[in-house]
Amino acid sequence: PARIPVIAIDGPTASGKGTIAMRVAQALGWSVLDSGALYRLTALAVLEQGVDPADESAVAEVAGRLDVSFHNGDVFLRGRDVTQAIREERVGNLASRIAAYGAVREALLGRQRAFRVAPGLVADGRDMGTVVFPDAPLKIFLVADVEARAKRRCKQLKEKGFSANLSGLLEDMRLRDERDRSRANAPLVAAPDAKIVDSSNLSIDETVAVVLGHWSSLVS
Ligand code: CDP
Ligand code: CDP
Repeated sequence: PARIPVIAIDGPTASGKGTIAMRVAQALGWSVLDSGALYRLTALAVLEQGVDPADESAVAEVAGRLDVSFHNGDVFLRGRDVTQAIREERVGNLASRIAAYGAVREALLGRQRAFRVAPGLVADGRDMGTVVFPDAPLKIFLVADVEARAKRRCKQLKEKGFSANLSGLLEDMRLRDERDRSRANAPLVAAPDAKIVDSSNLSIDETVAVVLGHWSSLVS
């Protein structure tokens, strides 16, 4: 039987994956998976429960036990709205550290695949096309210059009421990208069959149009 279609959108931090995934899902009437939120939720739970982030199996246990739910783009941990809390940079940085653990990735695998429901799924992260949904009919690897990404993130954080500093963000982003690319488990890399989309000089609308264009040419 034909499998439920998935559009995988992977790429470095602040390349626009979440925004583009949401918009593409809306256009197609599909569901969306923000896989990074699961790593961020695990990081937040680790911080709140005082678990040692250096203890891989303890962190994996937290990941396996996560009590999360998603409603209209809001994220809940044990019923508490943590949509804002998981966006903090300290949570993102810890997420990137614990995402290097194989046992943590394993613990979150089934949870991610459960999002694949009809009529389709748009999933964003680092390994959607390489590990989680290797049979996705469309894989997008979304990139943008680190300077463009730092500016976007800075603006986005300020709009959400967080303080943000461009040079600090740029530094953190370079470190995070390097860690995501060089780790042994599911490193950030384009799948061999991924379409590379550079959004450095594209608006959100233009980027959405590029992705939808790839999808239409695939199904027509
Ligand atoms: O929004 P941003 O791109 O900064 O991060 P995110 O997508 O929310 O993911 C937070 C961290 O989780 C990333 O730095 C990755 O290390 C990790 N992650 C991952 O390893 N695999 C995924 N599929 C998604 C996120
Ligand atoms: O999910 P990811 O970390 O890859 O990025 P995001 O949170 O979707 O996007 C980061 C910020 O860049 C958001 O505020 C977007 O509105 C903005 N953005 C943009 O200005 N131009 C684009 N072509 C894509 C995203």
